[in-house]
Amino acid sequence: MRSALAGLLLAAWTVSLANPSQAQTWSGDSIVNPLTAIPGDAVKGRVIVASRQTGLCLLCHSGPFPEERFQGNLAPEIGISVGRLSEAQLRARIVDASRFNPGTIMPSYYRTVELNRVAPKFDGQPILSGQEIEDVVAFLVSLKTTVAQ
Ligand code: HEC
Repeated sequence: MRSALAGLLLAAWTVSLANPSQAQTWSGDSIVNPLTAIPGDAVKGRVIVASRQTGLCLLCHSGPFPEERFQGNLAPEIGISVGRLSEAQLRARIVDASRFNPGTIMPSYYRTVELNRVAPKFDGQPILSGQEIEDVVAFLVSLKTTVAQ
């Protein structure tokens, strides 16, 4: 009984150590290193940003999505933010917006500790995977060339 419990605790501990969200390296207001070895895919990132199921970004933000009729006005326009933030700064804001504004309404997409109001489905896991974050970052960076600065 006791060893079974210890085994469980050990398993939980190993999982938490393996949790990729612990492995980001912050440098000031930026996360310079990509979260994954596989480079982000901008096409997939666009789908995530516009998605009403996964990214939900357009619930609050508006952006260059002519096909999306309803876009948010609770947050800065995505094109403007992309014009003034570096790739590393964009990554950091998506990983954990609460670092920049503790009272923010923006979800911390890649943080699993100390979260409030987490739906059971998301308990213990980030809202977006590391790869999905990299896809979103790749999409945002791709806007830098199309958005007038
Ligand atoms: C529930 C609302 C909400 C959602 C959903 C949301 N954001 Fe935000 N976001 C905000 C708000 C509000 C801010 C402004 C800063 C603050 O007060 O947190 C912000 C700030 C940002 C910034 C920094 C803007 C700047 O100019 O400094 C970026 C980049 C960003 N969001 C990207 C995203 C992306 C990408 C998604 C989807 C994966 C997303 N946001 C989803 C509300 C949201």
